[in-house]
Amino acid sequence: MNALILTGSPKGRKSASFALASKLAEGLLENNVFVSHEPVHAGLRTEEGTRRLLDAVDGTDLVVLAFPLYVDSLPAPLTRLLELVAERRTRVASPGTPRLAAIVQCGFPEAHQCDTAVGICRLFAERTGMRWAGALAMGMGGSIGGDIGRLPGGGKHILDALKMAAESLAKGGAIPVEATTLFAKPLMPRWMYTMVGNLGWRMQMRKNKARRPLTYRPYSQG
Ligand SMILES: Cc1cc2nc3c(=O)[nH]c(=O)nc-3n(C[C@H](O)[C@H](O)[C@H](O)COP(=O)(O)O)c2cc1C
Repeated sequence: MNALILTGSPKGRKSASFALASKLAEGLLENNVFVSHEPVHAGLRTEEGTRRLLDAVDGTDLVVLAFPLYVDSLPAPLTRLLELVAERRTRVASPGTPRLAAIVQCGFPEAHQCDTAVGICRLFAERTGMRWAGALAMGMGGSIGGDIGRLPGGGKHILDALKMAAESLAKGGAIPVEATTLFAKPLMPRWMYTMVGNLGWRMQMRKNKARRPLTYRPYSQG
């Protein structure tokens, strides 16, 4: 079996998307799946790269989209790639292949913020004749950075969920509901995430010598 993991963060290898996708790739490899891992932003910059991505989608058994939530949706280059795939599949496509799964994470604390983006991926699979294989979605993505290991408890429940997902996907199944539920579990108490996030913003402000207060809203009516 072949799997193609498409990462949709412009931060590339430093992104949370890449860190999560890499762990899924490890799990798939352990289960004898041949994995290729492609960054979408870089690929779409050239015609040749775009063709390579489209050919890779055509030639694989499983596609996994790993991306950050952007405005309740997918980052624009990933949306563009899906448009190109959809266009191509009206001409050449075997119904039911490849299977499509997604790993989504977002900056807000709640995993359910990702529901719309997961729905978009599921509808895309259904309308292009792919087979939907489920999703893993989590909030508090900002705390991952590029390293799952630095999470409280070493990110154990995230790693367990990715392992369960990899095992099932490698057998031709979908991501189990147990894995989705485990992955969505908050990484830390909400107050802690917000406190650390606010501290991070203040440190960035100081580093960038920003003079306005964090709450500055020049276009606000109220
Ligand atoms: C342009 C932009 C839009 C975003 N929109 C949302 C959003 O709608 N909801 C949310 O919870 N987080 C949002 N975020 C936060 C990212 O999803 C979050 O920082 C994520 O962990 C980044 O993942 P990455 O490291 O893989 O790029 C947004 C970030 C950016 C840069």
